[in-house]
Amino acid sequence: MSHLLSLTRAARLVGVNRVELQKKMKSGELLAFDGMVAFKDLLACYPDAQLEEISEYKRVMQIKERAFGKRVLERMLPDAEVLATRITDLSKRLTRSEAQVGQFNALLGKIWDKFRKTEQQGAGEAGAAISALRHWLEHEVAQAMEPGFSNPLAIKDGVLSVLSAQVTLLPSKQDFLVEGQATLLEAALRAGVSLNYGCSGGNCGLCKGRVVSGQVKKTRHHDYPLTEAEKEQGVVLMCSNTAVNDVVIEAAVTDGVQDIPFQQISASL
Ligand code: FES
Repeated sequence: MSHLLSLTRAARLVGVNRVELQKKMKSGELLAFDGMVAFKDLLACYPDAQLEEISEYKRVMQIKERAFGKRVLERMLPDAEVLATRITDLSKRLTRSEAQVGQFNALLGKIWDKFRKTEQQGAGEAGAAISALRHWLEHEVAQAMEPGFSNPLAIKDGVLSVLSAQVTLLPSKQDFLVEGQATLLEAALRAGVSLNYGCSGGNCGLCKGRVVSGQVKKTRHHDYPLTEAEKEQGVVLMCSNTAVNDVVIEAAVTDGVQDIPFQQISASL
């Protein structure tokens, strides 16, 4: 099965909101597997989606072209180290894919050799059947290898995976994207995900989350002291870290005011 996308990612790729995609999934217009969609099904549902239409991509390109201003650029683009890690990850994936293609080609070469030898050894109908099968396979493989169609949504997703990262929360399974230099907390709140938090400045410790997979990076100083045990378990403060790549984090979300802890904040006038 081809690569599957979360609803958040799919919605952004075609420039609609999640609710619209959910409606299409419900009506059967868009095929979904466990709440995820495949590139080819998304493109079939939105055949007009083009690389140039993607708003984030367009905005970054405009900023780049017009030298719009350092501050805006900083807000749009991830931290340099984060960007370098994402490009390295992408490059590793490309290298792995190229190696797999190389191995696949070598394997095909061996299969053709085997076919030819078997054909030479076989006689009559059996030899003819093997020869027909080889010709059919050669034709199918040649067609499949033709560099004709590249799904534009897969290309967009590659570009956007460098500009942003997806966060999935457990156990709520809510997800959101972290863009630019936003912290995990900022990105969650912008996406309407009500993460548990207090000061948003690294002092109270209420925004703790445990990284289950993926990589985060501390981008803001915090005074709240995490214990060594917490650090070893992968506990981080959501208001002080950003996502380097797609991450899964165990974190509490609030369902209502009853979940917001009582706080005492000292202030002086
Ligand atoms: S919200 Fe207080 S430390 Fe993060």
